[in-house]
Amino acid sequence: MSLLDKNKYFERNVSLLLVGALCVVSIGGLVQITPLFYLENTIEQVDGVRPYSPLELKGRDIYVREGCYVCHSQMIRPMRDEVERYGHYSLAAESMYDHPFQWGSKRTGPDLARVGGRYSDDWHIDHMADPRQVVPESVMPAYPFLIETKLDFNNVGQHLRANANVGVPYTDEMIELAKADLVAQTDPDSDGVDALLERYPGAQVRNFDGQPGISELDALISYLQVLGTMVDFSTYDAEANWR
Ligand code: HEC
Repeated sequence: MSLLDKNKYFERNVSLLLVGALCVVSIGGLVQITPLFYLENTIEQVDGVRPYSPLELKGRDIYVREGCYVCHSQMIRPMRDEVERYGHYSLAAESMYDHPFQWGSKRTGPDLARVGGRYSDDWHIDHMADPRQVVPESVMPAYPFLIETKLDFNNVGQHLRANANVGVPYTDEMIELAKADLVAQTDPDSDGVDALLERYPGAQVRNFDGQPGISELDALISYLQVLGTMVDFSTYDAEANWR
């Protein structure tokens, strides 16, 4: 039988063609999918990426609660226009501790993956109270109640534990001391700052909203200010991470 005849034989027997196609597709699928089951992790480790501090995690909670993701993505695509506007493209490792991740695709406002450090706390305070105060053409809603609402962080330890259950490396110590760490992060004079920084290297410690007491805005700004700042891109070597 010539090759052409074999082809004809398959094409004239619909069931055989179906079975044949299924075989070919399965082999392709197996080759691609099976190795993934034997890999512990498909995300490369990158220096500097750490789990969120309790205060940042509470801020992230508020971010999700208020639906900020409806208008803001958190993933810089590796295309020139994006990289020039927002900075280095996002690495998988940078959202490895996000449950759920906030990548998104809807951008009514700018991408926020690297908004950390771009503005001062004061700018954020004004912007959250009324975005039009600082960006006259803004269509972003105002969130004036955040600065007035006391942060409820009684359950922050359980929140860390829930994240630990899905793979974030929070230790028992971190969970136990979550409340103390949260308070310490808002008060540079507190005795707990050194221990906080040991558990969460590079965490920014200050009174984020400029008001006495810990408000929801303290938590939200601490979260916004850490976004995209964990990896030091002056020393990050993408090539080395591929090898
Ligand atoms: C209805 C859509 C919408 C929602 C919801 C929204 N934003 Fe925005 N956001 C915008 C737009 C549009 C801009 C650009 C204009 C401006 O700066 O206000 C913006 C800008 C920003 C910026 C400045 C970004 C930059 O790089 O200049 C930050 C930070 C921000 N938003 C945070 C938030 C947070 C936090 C929330 C949730 C509490 C939120 N936004 C909810 C639309 C939205």
